[in-house]
Amino acid sequence: MSGKADKGLSDRTCRVLDYGERQEEKGRQQFARDVLLGFFRSPKSIPSRHFYDEEGNRLFQKIMDLPEYYLTDCELEILETHRERITGHLGGQAFNLVELGAGDGKKTRVLLSHFCERDLDFRYVPIDICKPALLQLIDICGRDLPGVPIDGLVSEYFDGLAWLSGLNDRRNVVLFLGSNIGNFNASEARVFLRSLWSSLNDGDLVLIGFDLKKDIELLMRAYNDPQGVTAQFNLNLLRRINRELGGDFQVESFEHYSTYDVLSGAMESYLVSRARQSVFIESLRMRFAFEAWEPIHTEVSHKYLAGEISSMADETGFEVVDELSDSRGWFLDSLWRVRKPLTRPARA
Ligand code: TRP
Repeated sequence: MSGKADKGLSDRTCRVLDYGERQEEKGRQQFARDVLLGFFRSPKSIPSRHFYDEEGNRLFQKIMDLPEYYLTDCELEILETHRERITGHLGGQAFNLVELGAGDGKKTRVLLSHFCERDLDFRYVPIDICKPALLQLIDICGRDLPGVPIDGLVSEYFDGLAWLSGLNDRRNVVLFLGSNIGNFNASEARVFLRSLWSSLNDGDLVLIGFDLKKDIELLMRAYNDPQGVTAQFNLNLLRRINRELGGDFQVESFEHYSTYDVLSGAMESYLVSRARQSVFIESLRMRFAFEAWEPIHTEVSHKYLAGEISSMADETGFEVVDELSDSRGWFLDSLWRVRKPLTRPARA
C-alpha cells in the first residue's frame, strides 16, 4: 500500500490510500478470474462486488433515489431520528468512524454533521471498492465538513478489514449500512462478521443495517422498478465484461429477473439469456454457451427477522447494545459492541 496522498487531494486532512495503478490491473485480473470461475459454475454466476464500477455506482445511486427502493429512505429516517441516541453510546472519547462500502455517503452525512455540531473528536475513514465514488464522497465531505479529518481507502471488504486491524490508536466505530450484509449468504455473513470482530478491539462499536422481512410485494417492487433502472444496473455487469475483458455480450438478449425465495429469505437476482447464444471473452480467450432461458445468478439480498440478527451478533462475538428502527418497522440498524474476554472460553 502506498499510503501517500492521492493527486488532486492535496488538503492535509483528506487522503486516499490505495494501491495505485498496479491495483487497477490486479482488479481486472481478479474480475477475469471471477467471471471464469462463475461461468464454469452451474448455474452460472458473477460475484456481486463487480456491480460497482463507475457506471454501476452511478446506476446504484439512481436505484437509491427510486421511490420503490425503500431501503435508503428507511435508513435515512433511522439515522435522522436516532442520531442523538447513537451519539449517547459513543461516550465522549475520541474515535475513528470507519465505514465499509461507503458509496455516496448520503446517509452517513447525517451522522457526520451531527457529530460536528456536538464537537466530537473523530476521524472519518470511508472504505469503498469504487475509487471515483470515494473521491466524490471525500470531495463533498471536505467541502461541507471542513473540520473533519478524512482517510479514504479504496478496497474491498476483506482487505479493508486487514487494514482496519492496524487502526487501534483509539476506539473504532464501524458503520456497515444499507443492508450490505444481506449480499452475503448465511455462512459468508458469519465469516465476515467474525473477521470484522478479529480486526477490532474490545469495546469497539459496529452499527449494521439490516433489511427486515416484510410484505413480499414490497420486496418485489424494490428489485423490479418500472423505470428499469435496476435492470440497467444488473445488465451493467455484462457491459462491464464487454468493456474491461473484451466480451461480445449482446446485452439486449439478456433480461433482468429478481424474485423472492421464501426458504432462504432473500431476493435473488439473475440475468436470463432470452435465446440460445454464445459469447466470446477476449481476455479469457474463451467462448461460453448459453441455452435459451439459462440464468446467470448475480445477487442475493437477504431479508432478516429481528431474532436472526441478535443470534448472529451472539454467534460472532458481539453484544447488542441498541436496536433502531424506522416508523414503518421495515429496516433495523443494530448497534453492537465487540466482546473480547481476556480468558479462554471453558471447554463445553
Ligand atoms: N446491495 C443492493 C441490494 O441488495 C444492490 C441491489 C439493489 C441489487 N437492487 C438490485 C443487486 C438488483 C442486483 C439486482 O439491495
